[in-house]
Amino acid sequence: MIAPGWETLRMFLHIVAATIWVGGQFTLAGLVSVVKGFSPDATRVVARRFAQLSWPAYGVLIVTGIWNVIASNPAHQSGKWNGTLDIKLAVVALSGAAAFFHTRAKHKTTLALWGALTSLSALAALFLGVLLAQ
Ligand code: HEM
Repeated sequence: MIAPGWETLRMFLHIVAATIWVGGQFTLAGLVSVVKGFSPDATRVVARRFAQLSWPAYGVLIVTGIWNVIASNPAHQSGKWNGTLDIKLAVVALSGAAAFFHTRAKHKTTLALWGALTSLSALAALFLGVLLAQ
């Protein structure tokens, strides 16, 4: 068997956290219509519980993301690589900010808009992460 190392742990934690932050949002969005039927405040309760998982995952993404940058191969750090990282950092920040405003939105339309922006920017961060790792 291939021996795991620090790089394995770093990428493992980054990817596990990405699955929770990104995958969790899409799973929740897919379940909302069913959850709504349980009780009037069921969606709010489920969303709050999810926030207790997703925000720590976002924190792990930031910490392991910084670790990724420090540990990344200097040969990969071309102008294009750094440019991709800058765009990724912008969409990561957008995803976190949109999630924050989503939880505070009072109207259906703003709730839906912030929610969509959270998921799309999270998906973009995931795509850019795969690009950076190539
Ligand atoms: C929403 C937040 C984030 C998501 C969903 C995400 C997702 C990912 C994914 C899926 C990969 C590719 C793993 C692979 O293909 O092996 C990756 C790699 C990477 N991520 Fe993130 N990431 C996030 C936040 C961050 C942050 C905040 C930073 C920097 C501070 C960062 C820096 C990197 C770097 C440098 C790589 C390449 C690592 C390497 O080649 O060793 N990520 N990310």
